[in-house]
Amino acid sequence: MNKEREWEVFFDHHAPKYMDEVFTQNTEEEVEFLIEELQLPRGGAILDVGSGTGRHAVELARRGYQMTGIDLSSGMLKEAQKAADKAGVELELIHADAAKFKPEKKFDGAICLCEGAFALIGHGEDPIEHDLAILRNINSALKPDSIFILDTLNGLEKIRKFHKEDIAKNKFNQITLVETFVMDYTDNDGNKKSVTVREKGYIGSELKLMLRIAGFEAFHFYGSTAGNWGHRPVDPDEIGMMAIARKIREM
Ligand SMILES: C[S@@+](CC[C@H](N)C(=O)[O-])C[C@H]1O[C@@H](n2cnc3c(N)ncnc32)[C@H](O)[C@@H]1O
Repeated sequence: MNKEREWEVFFDHHAPKYMDEVFTQNTEEEVEFLIEELQLPRGGAILDVGSGTGRHAVELARRGYQMTGIDLSSGMLKEAQKAADKAGVELELIHADAAKFKPEKKFDGAICLCEGAFALIGHGEDPIEHDLAILRNINSALKPDSIFILDTLNGLEKIRKFHKEDIAKNKFNQITLVETFVMDYTDNDGNKKSVTVREKGYIGSELKLMLRIAGFEAFHFYGSTAGNWGHRPVDPDEIGMMAIARKIREM
């Protein structure tokens, strides 16, 4: 397998079951939260990075926003198109790697949710370079002063969960805060398969710095465990962390 394709392979096969996951059940509440934070009039153009099955994009399009989703997985994009057709809304869907994507138009806001590309690292990839490239591309896609909502993994939770033995077994890297683990999926012929994947956790100061380097200022950090978003501090033991940032500089 191409060394950078593990996540694509996993999501291509997992796509038809993704909307059965427990963490995808609160989309409408999540979208209400996004609208409040984006401070964007209806009709605004929003870029959804790692848009997956389009669950947020479809709901935002229903509420009058012009939605563009980009995703690495053609399987996930296919599900997004089906969901848009069913809802009777239009989505612009682009098959691309967010770390290499060069946007052709400018957006009024951007979202990158539930580990949409950011923090999902391929084996041949440097975690910092991968995620910085994504942030820079999002910056280039945005008009000045636009809001960007980034929902990612809480590194403190990983630091507290993993022990010396895990580091020795390469399950967790104590410098990069990258976890390596196995994900199971069923291939097109019904065979049980597995793929080894990597995901990175972030501590708040690191994420703030990364965003600043990429031309954003993060002004709020919230706990964001899926299905439980809100204006509350990040709990050290929760899985998700959200940054609300503003574009302050062109890249
Ligand atoms: C956990 S899903 C999240 C989907 C959606 N944002 C949500 O909240 O349900 C992660 C998505 O990121 C996509 N993805 C992973 N790496 C990517 C990359 N480098 N570029 C674009 N999309 C990527 C996957 O294909 C998958 O659809």
